[in-house]
Amino acid sequence: MNTPARGSLLGIEHLEAKEILGLLKLARRMNPLKTRPLLRGKRVVLLFYENSTRTRSSFEFAAKSLGAMTTLLQASSSSIEKGESVLDTGYTLRAVGADCIVMRHPSAGAPHLMAEHLDIPVINAGDGMHEHPSQALLDAYTILKHQKSFKGLHVTIIGDIFHSRVARSACHLLTKFGVTVTLCGPPEFVPEVAATLAPGLRITRHIEDALRGTDVIMLLRVQKERMAGHRIKLESYIARYQMTAARLKLAKRDALVMHPGPIIRGLELTADVADGTQSVIVDEVRNGVPMRMAILARALGKAK
Ligand code: NCD
Repeated sequence: MNTPARGSLLGIEHLEAKEILGLLKLARRMNPLKTRPLLRGKRVVLLFYENSTRTRSSFEFAAKSLGAMTTLLQASSSSIEKGESVLDTGYTLRAVGADCIVMRHPSAGAPHLMAEHLDIPVINAGDGMHEHPSQALLDAYTILKHQKSFKGLHVTIIGDIFHSRVARSACHLLTKFGVTVTLCGPPEFVPEVAATLAPGLRITRHIEDALRGTDVIMLLRVQKERMAGHRIKLESYIARYQMTAARLKLAKRDALVMHPGPIIRGLELTADVADGTQSVIVDEVRNGVPMRMAILARALGKAK
């Protein structure tokens, strides 16, 4: 086992604040509409063991905007279906010339395992319920576009935090910059132990309490596919936690409404909130491209 290749991005937890700021700064200089040959000749593999729309397409456009070649491997259409292990798949991809692997996997730690055995950078595009670093970075990029600075900021994360790698990475990132983070949801989604994830996290079960004075509201999808065993009554979740126009009024007047997607209208939020003037949900998706261009440029040693 080796240390991951330089440029790997496996999580936010162990990144230093200055590395995060460096990536955010680099993303601001990336223009997805103008193809640059920065990564010409480089081969980027998108290795997806789980479904994806936003993350996969934006990594692909990001790589192509920098002139790299991409190939997509999905579990359902590759030898993974025949039982090939994660590492054997990695060795195969390296042998055909991969320079970088962007990987999503249902098991926490799978990209780390790959990174410890390959001499090329591995980028975690979501590992189980663990981390989703590129999402946390694009969310930070989006927040800074609208709020100018992290100073004095209050972010409220509402919903299925327990099953969410997006929430985990966001908590690590925001608390590194002193942002006040409040977690809100029922105990099935926000167990008391969630407060130990990062320093200074606050938990509340009451959405009215969570929203008062908040600058950013981050909503999460109810992840039914990760809920083996326990059931949650959706009607009671909707009654207590759904983001509605009336509830939104409790937050600061210009509070941002964020959601990593996919959004389920009528569940975690109403359609008028999703499409309202405070919603930056589509902007988050758009910002995924320059953010991932920066991540790939750094991974392949071309970040200046
Ligand atoms: C999320 C994911 O896959 O973790 N989506 C994303 O990457 N934007 C969140 C989710 O599936 O709810």
